[in-house]
Amino acid sequence: MTQKFYHILTFGCQMNEHDSEIMAAMLEQKHYAPTEKRSQADVIIINTCSIRENADKRFFGTLGQLKRLKKEHPEKMIALCGCMMQQEHITRAIEQKYPWVDLIFGTHNLYRLPVLLEKAGEEEKLFMEVWQEHRGIQEGLPSRRKYPFKAFVNITYGCNNFCTYCIVPYTRGRERSRRPEDILREIRALAEDGVKEVMLLGQNVNSYGKADGFSVDFADLIHQVNEIPGIQRIRFMTSHPKDLSDKLIDAFQSCEKLCRHIHLPVQAGSTEILRRMNRRYTREGYLELIRKLREKAGEDLAITTDIIVGFPGETEEDFRMTLSLLEEVGYDAAFTFLYSPRKGTPAAEYPHQVPEQIKHERFERMRQVLDASMARRNKAYEGRRVWVLVEGPSKTDRTLMTGRTSSMKIVNFPGKRDLTGKLVQVRITQGKTYSLMGEVI
Ligand code: 5AD
Ligand code: SF4
Repeated sequence: MTQKFYHILTFGCQMNEHDSEIMAAMLEQKHYAPTEKRSQADVIIINTCSIRENADKRFFGTLGQLKRLKKEHPEKMIALCGCMMQQEHITRAIEQKYPWVDLIFGTHNLYRLPVLLEKAGEEEKLFMEVWQEHRGIQEGLPSRRKYPFKAFVNITYGCNNFCTYCIVPYTRGRERSRRPEDILREIRALAEDGVKEVMLLGQNVNSYGKADGFSVDFADLIHQVNEIPGIQRIRFMTSHPKDLSDKLIDAFQSCEKLCRHIHLPVQAGSTEILRRMNRRYTREGYLELIRKLREKAGEDLAITTDIIVGFPGETEEDFRMTLSLLEEVGYDAAFTFLYSPRKGTPAAEYPHQVPEQIKHERFERMRQVLDASMARRNKAYEGRRVWVLVEGPSKTDRTLMTGRTSSMKIVNFPGKRDLTGKLVQVRITQGKTYSLMGEVI
């Protein structure tokens, strides 16, 4: 039998990254091997993202490039999945304009990949299976990890929050949580397989179990993961401020494995904009959470965030409120976005859309404030000793090794390659804007 190859291109967030790891493992169970080269692949999968318009654009660009490949090699299978495929106007456009696509599936039936590939192989034309809602949580899926010592673990799927700018509740469906016993079983098996760090994933991990009426909440779950031998670090992503409980804040003190980092998207600094975004907290409420976090978890807890500039109706005054909030919090890092109207979301229809030029100009001003805050926070590390989980040689400078602190900072340092996957103590020699430099102690 000749070896068959697959190639997966992933856009978007960590949920998508993990979904791609699951698909990769399913394909490997069917004896496919990974390849970096599209020309070598028998199956090419694009896992798409809908969050902003430029993700859409890049996707259609890539899809266009595949036309020639398919013409020269009609036997290759081209498959599309992910959030964009949950949107009918997108799949309709693909059906009409991109006839070289063989298979389309969505976010809810991804685990059916092996069956879907077979079905698509039997069809001359496009085979499409997209479910509008999920049909229960599928347990026991395999995963091919990027690093043997780190793993993503889904704890919730979907989102019930309906922030007015966001497409996710429409593409990933209603929020549901995996049962604690299923999550713990998976993490125990991961630990036995050499995993030291787990990243608990969900659109809003803080509301874990609520929609399903579980007696175990997110803080309880962290405490239970904290007991698993072999696991040394616990991370989570993403937290909605409205559901951040005191119990979770306390876990930063009581769970020694819980990493010293929280990603707490604020989105905007003006209460009026937050109201129109349907975020259900105020500027003051958010700042109060930051105060509590600093009080309970310490000044060195790393706090990162997401910010959108140019939400419809955002005035110069509103924007300045965002800048002043950034100054006040002193973030360790932030993902910053230009508001991008998404079809089907309420905010796309709001009046007073902000002109592109103003969005860009505000974006620049915001980046300057953030860079200064990141540089300040990183400078404070100079001379400190930190534990680093080593990821491997640095991609930009092969003489250095790279890894992350508990606070999620990237640390580069001279070291041997066999440190990969180990936790080592490093003394920080320099705090730069986006990373730290250090030396092994
Ligand atoms: N435009 C810009 N940014 C958005 N995000 C979500 N939807 C949009 C949109 N329509 C950002 C939010 C969210 C992050 C994952 O993406 O900041 O937290
Ligand atoms: Fe989107 Fe808001 Fe849900 Fe996050 S919480 S996925 S921003 S709707």
